[in-house]
Amino acid sequence: MTLAGRVAIVTGAARGLGREHALLLGAEGARVVVNDIDAEPAQMVVGEIVAAGGEAVAAPGDVATWETGEALVDLAVETYGDLHVLVNNAGNVADRLLVNMTEDDWDHVVRSHLKGHFVPTRWAAAYWRQRSKGGSEVRASVVCTTSTSGLVGNPGQSNYGAAKAGVAAFTVVAAAELGRYGVRVNAVAPLARTRLTESVPALAERMAPPSDPGAFDPWHPANVSPLVAWLASAGCEVTGKVFLAQGGKVELFRPWSVEATVEKDGRWTPAELGERLR
Ligand SMILES: NC(=O)c1ccc[n+]([C@@H]2O[C@H](COP(=O)([O-])OP(=O)(O)OC[C@H]3O[C@@H](n4cnc5c(N)ncnc54)[C@H](O)[C@@H]3O)[C@@H](O)[C@H]2O)c1
Repeated sequence: MTLAGRVAIVTGAARGLGREHALLLGAEGARVVVNDIDAEPAQMVVGEIVAAGGEAVAAPGDVATWETGEALVDLAVETYGDLHVLVNNAGNVADRLLVNMTEDDWDHVVRSHLKGHFVPTRWAAAYWRQRSKGGSEVRASVVCTTSTSGLVGNPGQSNYGAAKAGVAAFTVVAAAELGRYGVRVNAVAPLARTRLTESVPALAERMAPPSDPGAFDPWHPANVSPLVAWLASAGCEVTGKVFLAQGGKVELFRPWSVEATVEKDGRWTPAELGERLR
């Protein structure tokens, strides 16, 4: 596995999971573009990476805006000469039961995750296609962030779940399209204690740190980062997959697949289908 010399963008890297991904990529030798909509904590993460002997630059901005996506890729290439890794991690929640959900709750969450994945991937992919067509060997990796909320469903999160299911679909489509340019695309569904989970009382309690500070903390966000780092590495060959990571556990999700088929030589009537599909 090698991350040495690779140039990586991590979106939403000022805190939580993104911060841990950026710190680990930096510690493993990658040069990191630290994006977040919050400039000050993003700059602090840059300081941490540099203090640990790594290289990093801050790139504040809303990742769902077209200009920020382009600027992130430009900054990586201008500062470090290339781009190899994009970790799409930024996003937020606005949990509400469907009947109470506002248009803003829906738009804000769907935008940050879905458009927030699309925009930087679009600009990075254009860069990699140009490199590949110019004859350079591209060994690039995009790591997306989905959620069990989108893969198995979670009441109160119709906006977030729909967006995260969309991220899983986006991952599969992008992997199929970009493989020809040397780009792999995978997704990780993390489970970890962050600002996002601490805002939900039931989760905050379930994910509390262990009382023994020396014990393994199964909800620490840094537990997710080794999977992201491996997927980002030059030696990894996996593409189009969706994983879950929590504590010491990594799971590979099976894609949507056909469970049962009924078929006849002609068009069904509704009543016939009712008989067969009960
Ligand atoms: N924590 C979990 O258990 C869990 C579970 C499933 C999925 N996720 C996903 O993991 C990712 C990271 O979440 P987290 O738990 O670390 O939450 P977090 O709130 O700690 O971190 C998210 C970061 O993204 C930034 N951000 C939000 N919108 C942005 C935008 N438009 N542009 C740039 N930055 C933006 C925030 O400022 C914040 O720093 C999210 O995509 C989240 O949906 C987390």
